[in-house]
Amino acid sequence: MPSKPQKPTKPPRSPRPESLMMTYGYRPELSEGAIKPPIFQTSTFVFHTAEEGKEFFSYAYGLAERDPLRPMGLIYSRLNNPDIEILEERLNLWDQAEASAVFASGMAAISTTFLTLVPPGSSVLYARPVYGGTDYLLEHLLPGMGIPTREFPAGATPETAEKLCREMQEAGTPVKMLFLETPANPTTVLTDIAAMAAVAHRHGAYCAVDNTLIGPLYQQPLKLGADLVLYSATKYLGGHSDVVAGVVLGSKELVERVKLFRTILGSVLSPNSAWLLLRSLETYKLRMTCARKNAEKVSAWLASHPKVDRVYFPGMIHDAAQQEIYNRQCTGPGALMSFELKAQGEEEAFRLLNAVKMIKLAVSLGGTESLIEHPATMTHADVPVEDQKKIGISPSMIRLSVGIEHPDDLIADLARALDAV
Ligand SMILES: Cc1ncc(COP(=O)(O)O)c(C=O)c1O
Repeated sequence: MPSKPQKPTKPPRSPRPESLMMTYGYRPELSEGAIKPPIFQTSTFVFHTAEEGKEFFSYAYGLAERDPLRPMGLIYSRLNNPDIEILEERLNLWDQAEASAVFASGMAAISTTFLTLVPPGSSVLYARPVYGGTDYLLEHLLPGMGIPTREFPAGATPETAEKLCREMQEAGTPVKMLFLETPANPTTVLTDIAAMAAVAHRHGAYCAVDNTLIGPLYQQPLKLGADLVLYSATKYLGGHSDVVAGVVLGSKELVERVKLFRTILGSVLSPNSAWLLLRSLETYKLRMTCARKNAEKVSAWLASHPKVDRVYFPGMIHDAAQQEIYNRQCTGPGALMSFELKAQGEEEAFRLLNAVKMIKLAVSLGGTESLIEHPATMTHADVPVEDQKKIGISPSMIRLSVGIEHPDDLIADLARALDAV
């Protein structure tokens, strides 16, 4: 009898990150069966023997080849700690990274990465605007250390970056890092990650992407060809405005190099903050999905308000080239937007900021509560006014991080505040 044709069987799919966020990388039997990892609030760890201590240190400083099947022993919380290790394993899942390193802040992650990978005599090329602290690092601190930097406008073509790479090469300071923040803070302009990574690689440079503003649920720069992805985990990853933290993710080889600098600079995250982030990651997708839906509703309402001139939001793009980039590299718009008032001055912007009630007037973003601020005088106050104009930050621009409140309550608050303008 002829056998029945067999249905092709689908290969089993590995569980999705949101299914793994509660348990991955943690073994309860190592912690008295506790369902959650305890906070390993300890500075140092007891070695079983002196020989073991010697072995762990020889691995930590790369003095001996490590047996990949033997886990690295715990030494001292500036080098390693269980909460840090579990957190790094879980963070790898969202970006599908080989390795990650967590830091005491987003700025610690960014500055440690530059110090590791960009030696004096080489240079950095970056898309501007970037977050104000990063701008200060690139405009003042790195040049002061013999690392020149050059900028190009966020959203520029790869040809622009290519030309600048050639110019820096001719000046005797070849580009070693092409740095992007996309979407850019606060204008939400997108830069083409794949195209810029290709330019960087043609010039022997690394491409690093600050993915803070949109997060790994909606954009995964490593898959697009970036070498490193960075986060201020203070924002969406932390999500509750109660922890300051940073992350770098990429290949094992690059992240190990960054971790050596982290150990020596001492820029590692504390066990307590790592534990808070483990708690936060369990609801990362839920929070993000809700905030994104709210942001779509709020942005549409703002765009139709007679006192609002323009809304900047990856879910509301007006430019064909930007839309193409969005379609290629983002799977959702995130929940951060900026908008400009028709009234052009700081005074009118301040009237709105002083009138909101439910939305809190504070810098930062990505928390469960909605936050509103004035980039020109707050997060980007250090960027000279003429540069602000050039990169699209105006006195009437307001940045809004949409949280997980009911969207109609947020709209009612904004409606009241806009009446005061
Ligand atoms: C895009 C971006 N990157 C980096 C940072 C710096 O992060 P942290 O404040 O955690 O040092 C921020 C802070 O607002 C940011 O918005």
